[in-house]
Amino acid sequence: MFERESYDLLKGKKGIIFGPFDESSIGWQIAEAAYLEGAEFAISNISAALRFGKPAELCKLCGDAPFIACDASINEDVEKCFDEVKEKFGSIDFIVHSIGMSPNIRKNRPYEDINYDWYMKTMDVSAVSLHRIISTAWRKDIINEGGSIVALSYIAAQRNYWTYSDMGDAKALLESIVRSYGPRLAKKGIRVNTVSQSPTHTKAGSGITDFDKMYEFSNLTAPLGNATAEECAEFVLTLLSDLTRKLTMQNLFHDGGYSSMGTTLPMIRLVHEALKDDDLVKNAGFDEFAPPDLNPKSSTNSR
Ligand SMILES: NC(=O)c1ccc[n+]([C@@H]2O[C@H](COP(=O)([O-])OP(=O)(O)OC[C@H]3O[C@@H](n4cnc5c(N)ncnc54)[C@H](O)[C@@H]3O)[C@@H](O)[C@H]2O)c1
Repeated sequence: MFERESYDLLKGKKGIIFGPFDESSIGWQIAEAAYLEGAEFAISNISAALRFGKPAELCKLCGDAPFIACDASINEDVEKCFDEVKEKFGSIDFIVHSIGMSPNIRKNRPYEDINYDWYMKTMDVSAVSLHRIISTAWRKDIINEGGSIVALSYIAAQRNYWTYSDMGDAKALLESIVRSYGPRLAKKGIRVNTVSQSPTHTKAGSGITDFDKMYEFSNLTAPLGNATAEECAEFVLTLLSDLTRKLTMQNLFHDGGYSSMGTTLPMIRLVHEALKDDDLVKNAGFDEFAPPDLNPKSSTNSR
C-alpha cells in the first residue's frame, strides 16, 4: 500500500487496468496508486488469474472495483470486456496495458529453435493485444477526449538481451504499435506511450533465465539503481494525469538511468578482477556466447 498523501492527480478519472496478478505485478501497483489518486477503474486479467493470482483481493482494495475476465488475445473477449466497461462507466479516460507472456520462455525453448505457434502467441498476447484493445475501445467510442493509454515495455525492444528471447521482438512490435496508433488517437487528443521499466521481481519477470543476474547487473549499472514496481506505478500516474497532455508516441525509459549508461568503472574493475580467476572464466559461458578469439581462455586469444 502507498503510504503517502494523495495529490488527487486522477480525481474524477475512469479507466481499465489490464494485467494485475498479485502484489508483485506492475499492474497491481499501478492500480493501488491510481486508486490513491482518486481514479475509478475496472481490473482485468484472464479468468485463470482469479484462481492462481489475487486480482479479487486487489478489487476489494480499490473500492470494490469490478473485475472483468478477458483474454486479451481473443477478439470476442476484448469486445465483451469493453461492452462491460461501457455498461459500468459509460466512457473512460485511461487504459493501462500491463500484459506479457511468452510460451517459448516459459517452456525454455531457445530463440534459435523457436516454436512458431508459440512465437505467434507471444506476439499476440504481449503486443497485438494492445492494438486489439485500442481498436475495440476506439470503435466503441469509449475513450474520452484527452485520454491516455500506457503500455509496459523493456529495453530488449532496442538492444539484445539474450535470455529475453522472443519477448524482445514482442516489445519492439508493442512500441511500434504505439507509434503507428499515436497520430490516429491524437484526433481526439488521446495520448499513447510505453514505459520501459527496469527488471522487476514479478511472476513474468522471474520466468526469464538468469533474471536475478540481469537484475543485479542493471541495478549496479543504473546511476539511480533499478526502479521498483511501486516507483513505476508513480511514474505511470503522471502519464495518466492531465499533467502530460502533449506527451505521445514515446517510449519512456524508467530505469534509474540504465539505458543511457555505457558501463561503470566499478563494473570494469570487477570484470578485470574476475578474468584472473580461471574457474570463473571457465564457467561464465564464453564458449557458448562468444567467438573463440574472444574467449579469454582460448589458445587464439591475443590478449
Ligand atoms: N518484470 C519485469 O522485469 C518487467 C520489466 C519491464 C517490463 N515489464 C512488463 O510489465 C508488464 C507486466 O508484467 P509484470 O512483470 O508485472 O508480470 P505479471 O506476471 O505480474 O503480469 C503479466 C500479466 O499478464 C497477464 N496475461 C498473460 N496472458 C494474458 C492474456 N492472454 N490476456 C490478458 N492478460 C494476460 C498475466 O495473467 C499477468 O497478470 C508486462 O508487459 C511485462 O513485459 C516487466
